[in-house]
Amino acid sequence: MSDPLRDFDYTPADFNVVRELIRQAAGIKLADSKDSLVYSRLAPRLRSFGFKSVKEYLAFLMENEEETQHFINSLTTNLTSFYREPHHFEILTEFVKSGEKVQRVWCSASSTGEEPYSIAMTLVKAFESFDACKIIASDIDSNVLAKAQNGIYALQQVDVLADKKRFFRKGTGPNTGFAKVIPELKKMIEFKRINLMDEMLPINDLQDVVFCRNVMIYFDRETQLEILRKLVEKLRPGGLYVAGHSEHFSGMSEYLQPIGKTVYMKK
Ligand SMILES: C[S@@+](CC[C@H](N)C(=O)[O-])C[C@H]1O[C@@H](n2cnc3c(N)ncnc32)[C@H](O)[C@@H]1O
Repeated sequence: MSDPLRDFDYTPADFNVVRELIRQAAGIKLADSKDSLVYSRLAPRLRSFGFKSVKEYLAFLMENEEETQHFINSLTTNLTSFYREPHHFEILTEFVKSGEKVQRVWCSASSTGEEPYSIAMTLVKAFESFDACKIIASDIDSNVLAKAQNGIYALQQVDVLADKKRFFRKGTGPNTGFAKVIPELKKMIEFKRINLMDEMLPINDLQDVVFCRNVMIYFDRETQLEILRKLVEKLRPGGLYVAGHSEHFSGMSEYLQPIGKTVYMKK
């Protein structure tokens, strides 16, 4: 039955089709309770095409491959912040200071960029150099990657950072209220669209540290373990795997040893 408060027709069957499509495309598992969220996320796409129902949009999606990326972008959750889970950045600093080789870091669900820039700032401070390490920042969502690559953030986000003067420039004129990361910091990072569901992850060099935080929670256990296996394959022995606060891999003792709060070392 259609909801009179909604602009577009939307049925439980439509929700199930969306669920199946996003699970196949991105691994994201949507709970039953997410039906309204799906509607509100897809509504702007329907509006922009002038469709009357979610069914009509889904038929269009099936026939237009280029819509798939917009569909994925609409359904990802991109919450992030600078130095989120600060203990991880302390561990990264200690790892560098202990003399470990840290030349390559992969931030594998980098969202709008706050995470890879926090990694970059941490490394610059630990090495006192902008050239010691290369970072790959990747995400499935092309919109957030573009924002990350722009490196422009609201001043409220940047103002609270102790490093703001060193790593950001305040905007003036039309850019008042924003701050931009300095080019030397941005140059450390290569931005790439990577779907963690892809069988072959396009990372050629073994990484010294892999961040994969607050994305596994969207996958089912089987998918989590499969992605974890692929990520660990890209990590050198002795390298660090950094997970999100509710992501525990205690069952992976075969190749990951816990060394701190949600931080593991590859055996
Ligand atoms: C909640 S954000 C976490 C951002 C950051 N890692 C942090 O902890 O602050 C989750 C990110 O995972 C990305 N994502 C979801 N599914 C993905 C997939 N299959 N492959 C790569 N990235 C994915 C989303 O686009 C989103 O930007």
